[in-house]
Amino acid sequence: MSRSISVALTPSGLAPECELHQACSIIIDVLRATSVMTTAGLAGAKRMITCENIHAAFEIADQSDSERADQPPSRPLLCGERHCKPIDGFDLGNSPAEYTPDRVVGRDIVLTTTNGTRAIQAAMRSRRLLAASFLNLAATVAAVESEPHLQIVCAGTNGQISYEDVLLAGAIIDRLNESGSGPGEPTDHLDDSARIAWSAWRQSLTPARALEESLALSLGGRNLIEAGYTSDIGRCAQIDTIDGIAERVDPGKAVFRFVKR
Ligand code: MLT
Repeated sequence: MSRSISVALTPSGLAPECELHQACSIIIDVLRATSVMTTAGLAGAKRMITCENIHAAFEIADQSDSERADQPPSRPLLCGERHCKPIDGFDLGNSPAEYTPDRVVGRDIVLTTTNGTRAIQAAMRSRRLLAASFLNLAATVAAVESEPHLQIVCAGTNGQISYEDVLLAGAIIDRLNESGSGPGEPTDHLDDSARIAWSAWRQSLTPARALEESLALSLGGRNLIEAGYTSDIGRCAQIDTIDGIAERVDPGKAVFRFVKR
């Protein structure tokens, strides 16, 4: 199958709308929004509703409250971060460690983060929309391997390219091309950003440097270290520990469900 892969190194590099609506888009915010979505999904969160700002998150939670007045209390959990820190009045921050089954099983989650949930919004017009992390790299690849037009969207950090997201974009491309015709010859058609991501991933694969170390060097990694969340870098650097993926369920709405493989 001839497949095209485009990478937006930040959301502003996204394909024009006309191409986006045919594409299957993979959103990447390794540190930490899409790692959180993957972890929350595995822990049993019912739905993950993402939004761009804090006000919208409160509105979504209030709305679900009033819609379900006749049923047992099921207010969604308000989750996310600003400047890497938990948001006042929210239930959970943006550390994967917080998303344990006892907290999230059967609950809806409303998530707003500085870059990750904005990247999701930017790609809303995609035909399919999925959230990838290193934790679910194999499940990501399995979910998209028969897609002819892949658009990978790196969330970046405040409009800047972030190395950790580029590495995962490259890792996805690498896995998709594993059965290709040889090193350096992808079977897929890659745009230039995809080639950059792929080379970055291949170059990072030295026996001397673990993925965790590479993530710690990145812009997102440095920000987390400064904010006191160093241990989250190790958590998000595990590869293939979760066999499922959060996928948008309803085109036009940023509502995701975790699909087990
Ligand atoms: C983001 O969306 O910017 C990140 O997930 C930041 C963070 O985890 O603190």
